Amino acid sequence: MLYVIPSFQNPTGATLGAERRAPLVEVCRAHGVLLVADEVYHGLHWSAPPPPSLGAFSAKGGVLALGSFSKILAPGLRLGWIHTDPATVARLASSGLLDSGGGLNPFGSGVVRSALELGLLEPHVVRLRSELSRRSVALGAALQSYLPRGRLEAPGGGYFAWVHLSGLDGESLRAVANELDVDLRPGRLFSTQEGLREYVRLSFAFYPDDLLEEGVRRLGEAVSRLGGR
Ligand SMILES: Cc1ncc(COP(=O)(O)O)c(C=O)c1O
Repeated sequence: MLYVIPSFQNPTGATLGAERRAPLVEVCRAHGVLLVADEVYHGLHWSAPPPPSLGAFSAKGGVLALGSFSKILAPGLRLGWIHTDPATVARLASSGLLDSGGGLNPFGSGVVRSALELGLLEPHVVRLRSELSRRSVALGAALQSYLPRGRLEAPGGGYFAWVHLSGLDGESLRAVANELDVDLRPGRLFSTQEGLREYVRLSFAFYPDDLLEEGVRRLGEAVSRLGGR
């Protein structure tokens, strides 16, 4: 199995280009590798939309594209969908896990079904895109003001800013930031080889602009304190 996050990846926000998607599917098919595309941020774009979902390549089998309502409707819903070929859908739908429990997350599914039938999802996602866009810009501006050593490639979608700290260790920054009541995810947590130490992942999804600015101001203070130790 090959697991990828092709659109607005967690943690980097990177997106796999259109020209690399079909070859990726082909190479997996040629080697009998199941391709699992975790696309929970796919619809959350505010610059150019990402290339089509890898689910678009699923008709011939071997591809599972996953989406989640947790990211586009309400955090913690823990309800999503799988876009794949009809034979695999039939296999999944008749699995013992689903049969014996009467489905996954039946209450959440009922609520989400009503939201979809009432046409509430689409306008909500439109609002969410512009809200996330504004928050990501607010975070970027705060970084420029308070953390000029942080290099950020402005994300065009998703939840995350991936910041390069040029010479500073992400875990050390986190320890001092925690003293100031701010948290972040150091890059090392996303590395299988203890790497990415000069990176941190910041999320702009949850907080309004003023709190994002305050959080980054404290990060700037944490960097100053770190310099003094
Ligand atoms: C890439 C990716 N996949 C899946 C999830 C989890 O989604 P859910 O809340 O639906 O379990 C996350 C949440 O952080 C994520 O970043």
